[in-house]
Amino acid sequence: MRKLLIAGNWKMNLTLAKSVDLASGLKKNFPADTSAQVALIPTFVHLPAVHQIIQDTPMALGAQDVYFEKPGAFTGEVSTEMLREIGVQYVLVGHSERRHILGEADPLLNKKLRAVIAEGLTAILCVGETLDQRKAGRTQAVVGEQLNNDLAQVSGEAIAAGHLVIAYEPVWAIGTGLTATPTQAQEVHAFIRGQLSRLFGAALADQIQIQYGGSAKKANAAELLAQPDIDGLLVGGASLIVEEFLGMVRAATGVKKSA
Ligand code: 13P
Repeated sequence: MRKLLIAGNWKMNLTLAKSVDLASGLKKNFPADTSAQVALIPTFVHLPAVHQIIQDTPMALGAQDVYFEKPGAFTGEVSTEMLREIGVQYVLVGHSERRHILGEADPLLNKKLRAVIAEGLTAILCVGETLDQRKAGRTQAVVGEQLNNDLAQVSGEAIAAGHLVIAYEPVWAIGTGLTATPTQAQEVHAFIRGQLSRLFGAALADQIQIQYGGSAKKANAAELLAQPDIDGLLVGGASLIVEEFLGMVRAATGVKKSA
């Protein structure tokens, strides 16, 4: 059985006081009976404060990025070791904003992903096509190439140990209010699982959680999560609102995915 993973990517939002308020609000109202895994992914500089609030709750901590090198002369960067030391368990790799705004390409993302896994953390690898790519019928080609390149030299043992999550985030659905329909999302998720099966074998592919991201919210969570290959949500805007985010956590409770 795959558990569902609901993760809030807070991006470059909130003041420190607002991050603390949001984490505290989530803690106070967190549903006791949830069966889903939950992660909060604030900006780097708010990680310790958020960790302090959620450390005795079922919520895990995630980081939005990392650098692949061991600690050293890399001004402005943050290492996997630094993240682990402050309680981080999940690290986003290849979010579309890093690919398309910051210009990160597959060879760098592969190094980051392998460094995260080598540190014993879990990488959430984000993949997805732009609107032009979708219109040109290239969704599978683009996502397939991202998976091939970014997952090069990743071991089956790392996957068996749960160190890899995939997030399908169609770029055209991020922050736009446009959500992929459950059918559109399921189609790509099934394709992704097929690619993971080709890379790692069917048994391991069945263990990997594949999240959907792109204007996910309380109102559309249940129908997305009802799809057989959608194993959770990676949420941007709606994760900044306690009732919206916990609504998605509640929607995930009791949903089971056969592996
Ligand atoms: P939105 O939920 O704001 O569309 O953002 C999705 C996302 O990029 C999560 O990583």
